[in-house]
Amino acid sequence: MKTTKKIWYNGKFVNWDRAETHVLSNGLHYGSGAFEGLRYYHTENGPVVFALKEHIDRLFYSASFLNMGLKLKFNENDIAEAIQDLILKNMIKEGYIRVIFFWGFNSLSFQPELLCPLDAAIATWAWDPTREKDSVKVKTTKYTKASPESTVTNAKLCGNYIHDILANAEIIKAGFDEPLFLDNKGNVCEGAEKNIFFVKNGVIFTPPQGNIMPGVTRRFVIKLAADMGFKVEEKNFTLPELKEADETFLTSTVVRILPINQIDGQKFIPRKGPVAMDIKQEFEKIVRAKNPKYEKYLTYVRTDI
Ligand SMILES: Cc1ncc(COP(=O)(O)O)c(C=O)c1O
Repeated sequence: MKTTKKIWYNGKFVNWDRAETHVLSNGLHYGSGAFEGLRYYHTENGPVVFALKEHIDRLFYSASFLNMGLKLKFNENDIAEAIQDLILKNMIKEGYIRVIFFWGFNSLSFQPELLCPLDAAIATWAWDPTREKDSVKVKTTKYTKASPESTVTNAKLCGNYIHDILANAEIIKAGFDEPLFLDNKGNVCEGAEKNIFFVKNGVIFTPPQGNIMPGVTRRFVIKLAADMGFKVEEKNFTLPELKEADETFLTSTVVRILPINQIDGQKFIPRKGPVAMDIKQEFEKIVRAKNPKYEKYLTYVRTDI
């Protein structure tokens, strides 16, 4: 990771290497935190954050499950402003934004809201384009995605992401790039921090809300694809159905649109499906402010850098 100058930590801008926390922080031991990942892009009129409001709304939604409300000193506007101030301070044209609220040090109790301080941090850094793949080999993981009966699946709670770490360890050892999770009913669920879509006979399908994370990119892609004239259907589907698709792709803030070139060794030809590539091309234009129709999804950071 390329370091930047400052990190926003509990309302102050501190030097990158001084954004420290105690080793007995509750969040470190139990994953008792909520986070968001956003991206900002370079445009002719300065940096723009994509879908800022949607991400901040989801952050506060996630935090509500950890009873953070009473101790949280910042509201949605404060966080939106802090993100923009940090982008300006770090002077990097385009990058990734990570926001986290977590229970800090004072107790390892399972009621951190009674005993622990609430820490909040925001970091931005340049995304390394060499890490971006143009398509990926996916493998179904042996781990089943946690169901809404076992955790809050539509909230970005830190502890939930141990699944992604375990699944990546499994599938990367087997020579694949990305895991695919099934849900507890055997339906296709999602990737590691990525939603999944497939295309069959020109119609685009994606799992409905319920077991999945309702991704900000997913929601936007559903709208964009419909605006582009595609029929989009949210429905449950199984792995055999997915493998019979004409093409399939993942979406997320980090990868935007990422074609899947094979699942469990079964290849898709072409490696990058035409529908995914069409949507990707439109998406790239939108985040770089080249399509005025979608300006409302862009927040212009208040000055040029
Ligand atoms: C479990 C999970 N699925 C999918 C996604 C993709 O969502 P987004 O498009 O909001 O990045 C994320 C990322 O937030 C996630 O955590």
